[in-house]
Amino acid sequence: MDLEFYDENKYLISMTPADKIIEAGTVLGLNDKCSVLDLCCGYGEMLKLWAENFNIKGVGVDRCTEYINTGNRHLHDAQLNNNITLIAEEVQTYITDEKFDIACLCGVGDLFGGIDGHISMLERFIKPTGKLVIAECFLNKESAPKELREFEGELYTLYELYRLFSERGWYVSWLSTGTNADWERYISWEARRTIEKIRKSPDDKRMLEWLDKWYHMYFKYRREYEGWGFFVLERIW
Ligand SMILES: C[S@@+](CC[C@H](N)C(=O)[O-])C[C@H]1O[C@@H](n2cnc3c(N)ncnc32)[C@H](O)[C@@H]1O
Repeated sequence: MDLEFYDENKYLISMTPADKIIEAGTVLGLNDKCSVLDLCCGYGEMLKLWAENFNIKGVGVDRCTEYINTGNRHLHDAQLNNNITLIAEEVQTYITDEKFDIACLCGVGDLFGGIDGHISMLERFIKPTGKLVIAECFLNKESAPKELREFEGELYTLYELYRLFSERGWYVSWLSTGTNADWERYISWEARRTIEKIRKSPDDKRMLEWLDKWYHMYFKYRREYEGWGFFVLERIW
């Protein structure tokens, strides 16, 4: 097994694997003059991969201090802390005067007003020629069971996503959809974290309930009804 590759994937919280993120970087035309903002960046692993492979400059924002501290340690160890800054902050209150070439929001469901809200949030931070990266779950079938909709919030088919993007003037210039292997990596990653927490706090029954719910949703609904898409979006004009 390629352990280095495995280690990178471990710090990508959502489903797109490291090789696809690097491929997206090529399509985005990333280079040492590009600046990238990643909102809800998790450990900042996507920015780290792009800094390693394309020498970009970037900023990542996430409210989880554990992710940000670990991510900053990795950047420091890889001597990439001059390229990338990770900030522990709520993205809805994050402000900066800087305008970026690329703005990203990956894996947040319908937290910020769905696709429309996500596009509005990202547009605030980009240059007129800027591009967006959005990664989201989508619906594989026209209608989703109620339990899945309650668990995931609003989900769209790929076609509906395309319509929503293009109504806002954004066109898909590259996409990558998740495989079963990507899902299995993501689902079991979260389960391993939860198992660790249960071992540390065996009396906390909520964690065990969450683990049951997590696998119940995956095996009963998500595997059949949900896909994962990573989209590069550009304006034509
Ligand atoms: C599924 S993870 C995706 C992380 C990363 N984009 C990736 O793909 O690896 C969602 C992230 O959103 C962050 N998040 C959720 N709501 C947030 C908010 N209001 N402000 C900042 N971060 C938030 C969480 O802390 C978590 O790291």
